[in-house]
Amino acid sequence: MIVCSCNFIREQQIRDAARDGIVAVEDIYEHLGCQPNCCQCFPFAEQIIREETRLAA
Ligand code: FES
Repeated sequence: MIVCSCNFIREQQIRDAARDGIVAVEDIYEHLGCQPNCCQCFPFAEQIIREETRLAA
């Protein structure tokens, strides 16, 4: 599933980055070589990060 339509970032890419310890949306986008544009994807991206960090705890 595409989370960020501005950058075509998929849910799995965010999950993988969060599992690697990157827990800020902006940092994940930078890690993927992207920059936030409209930021409408942030709430969903943050939800995914929370899920991954909760699973890792
Ligand atoms: S949808 Fe992610 S920055 Fe626009």
